[in-house]
Parts: sequence; C-alpha cells; structure tokens
Amino acid sequence: FEVKWNEEDAEKGGFDHFMLKEISEQPLVVQETIGQRVFFENEFEPYKEELPKDIVRGISRICFVACGTSYHAALIGKFLMEYLADMPCEVDYSSEFRYRNAAVNNSVLTIAISQSGETADTLAAMREAKKRGSYVLAITNRLGSTANREADFSILTRAGLEIGVAATKTFTSQLVTLYILALYMGSCKRSISKKILDETLSYLLEVPKRLEEYFPKFLNDIEKSAKIYSGYKNMIFMGRGINYPVALEGALKLKEISYIHAEGYPAGEMKHGPIALLDPTTPVLAIATRSAVTYEKVLSNIEEAKSRRSRVVALISEGDKDAVNLVNDILYVPDVPEIVSPIYNVVPLQLFAYYAAVWLSRDPDKPRNLAKSVTVE
Ligand code: G6P
Repeated sequence: FEVKWNEEDAEKGGFDHFMLKEISEQPLVVQETIGQRVFFENEFEPYKEELPKDIVRGISRICFVACGTSYHAALIGKFLMEYLADMPCEVDYSSEFRYRNAAVNNSVLTIAISQSGETADTLAAMREAKKRGSYVLAITNRLGSTANREADFSILTRAGLEIGVAATKTFTSQLVTLYILALYMGSCKRSISKKILDETLSYLLEVPKRLEEYFPKFLNDIEKSAKIYSGYKNMIFMGRGINYPVALEGALKLKEISYIHAEGYPAGEMKHGPIALLDPTTPVLAIATRSAVTYEKVLSNIEEAKSRRSRVVALISEGDKDAVNLVNDILYVPDVPEIVSPIYNVVPLQLFAYYAAVWLSRDPDKPRNLAKSVTVE
C-alpha cells in the first residue's frame, strides 16, 4: 500500500485548490492584520512607527494608486478616508496616473497599494509621485519588495504567502489595513469622534469569529448558485456606496478564473447603458445587504432587472424580509453594520467565482493569460 502525494498537494492542506484554501484563511488573516493594533490607552496610534503623526497632520489630500484587485481595495479606501478621516481622496489606476499630469505635491500623500510590491505600473506611479514632491506610502504584503523599499513609508499587510493568481486573502488584509489607517488618520487629525472610532474598532474585532462561522453555514448554497450561473456567458454585478467596489471585485474574480464575461457597475449607472444588455441570457448579481441609504435603491434596481426577465442572484443580509421576495437566488451574508460589510460581502463573491470555475473545469489557481505579479508594462 502506497500513499500517493506530492509537495503541492501537501501545501494545499487538504483543499482542492490554493484559492479555496486562501479564501478560507481569511478569518485568520483578518486577525493577524488587526493584531494588537486596535488596543490603546490614551491615543489611538496603530501606525505611528510606519507613518509618523506629524506627517499625517501635514497632509491635506490622499491619492491612491493601484492595479487590479488592489485598485478595488483603494476604491473602498477612498470611502473610508472620507467617512472616517474626513480626508479628500482620489483613486487612480497606476497605469493612468504615471502618464498623467497628476497634481500632487508635498501636501498630498500618495498611497500605493500592491500585494506583490512589484507591479511595474504601480512602481512607476510611485516614482512619478515622488518626483512631484508627494510623500509615498506603500501598502504591500511583501517585506523587501521594491515598493516596500522605495516608499517613504510602508505598511505591511499580514496575509502570508498567496499562491492563487486571483487575489483573495490579500484583498481582505488590504481592506483591514485601510480601516485601521483611516481611523488612525482621523484620530491624528481629530476629525473622528470617539464614538465612531470605538464602534468601528468593535465591528472589526468581530470579523474573524463571524467569518469563521460563515463558511460551514453557507458554502453549499454558494456552490449551488455558482453551478446555475456558470451556464451563462455574461453576467452583470451591481452594488452601491461602499459595496460598489465589491461588485467590481466580484466581476473581476468571475472573469479572471471562470472566463465568463462579467462587468461590475454602480447600480445607479445601470440605466445609463448597461440596462440595455439585460434579458434572459444575462443574469444579474446584486449586492443588496442592509444599508441606511442605498438598500431601497438597490431593490428598485433589482426590480428593473426582473422586469427585463434577467435572473437575479443577490447578496442579502440574514433576517432580511424584503429583498428575499424579489430575487431568484439568495446568497446570505451575516447581518453586519454597513461600514464593515465589504469585508463580509467579498467572501461569497470569491467563492461564487471559485465554484463557477471548478464547475467549468477551469483551474482557478492558474488562470490563462494572467500572472500573479505583472512586472512588465
Ligand atoms: C495581477 C494579478 C491580480 C492583482 C494585480 C495587482 O493582475 O493577477 O490579482 O490584483 O496584478 O497586483 P499587486 O501585486 O500590485 O496588488
């Protein structure tokens, strides 16, 4: 009797693919990224070593540069910087920023987000920002990477090595870092109330446990839905507010690894073009989780899609009584405060893409034409 194994299978730790292993590591990754940073006595200063307080106080604007999944993290970062730190903020693709006459100077903090710290366009954008006198902060998962070495300031995310080409756990660790950074900047600038600071930190602290409980409960539902939707050639993802970038990320994941054509839109833009695509051959995935301002709006966007006879699958908060009646298929997520909902909402979308790819016999770890790190232009 011979046990057959190889090194790669051993590294997968019992999972069929690295991607599934890495998705399921997210509760731990969130825990590691939060670490001891959120506990404080007098002042909340989690990144005072990485980004000195007097630098934060001298900044009047943030400019994010990033590519791919890191760009979607940056879009959520903008929302957080505005909401938690009252900081004007813009987001640019690195490949656009580097060739543009970007108006940055020494009152601007350019934040480069790059998992690998080696993406050619992001490194070029960092150099361009520096040349124009801006401070550069790199948020990367790789100690010793070029971005980590070249930036004026650097924060490391704590996701561990990610092998799957499609970013999953590194995205979550970027998000958690951005929450803590926005809270830190808000505290340095005295633009956040003690109440919002304490509340947001308590929501973050709950994430690892709630995510851990999530997987065994909902994995089967997601797998079933993914099978249904893997039969389509096109799919539209829509969300609003802080979950609009999550819709973009869900669509990116699906196209990257299943090769189903998917596009993400802010739901309010549907009527300005994408709605023309809707018919029974083009289903919609809607992010319709609990939200103070945008929930009702997303419901009416779902109704519009239904009236064009599109099949609709929606991310819905557990306990929801309205959205459930409108959609064909439901992906439940824990009922959490809207501000932290992106961390939860991205997980079923990663799994949805994963199961669709597996169902279509595509290798989710090594999608065609894509590289983990794009070091050439
Ligand atoms: C490649 C990867 C993506 C990643 C992007 C940016 O396209 O396939 O998963 O999001 O590069 O990479 P970075 O290392 O800069 O975050």
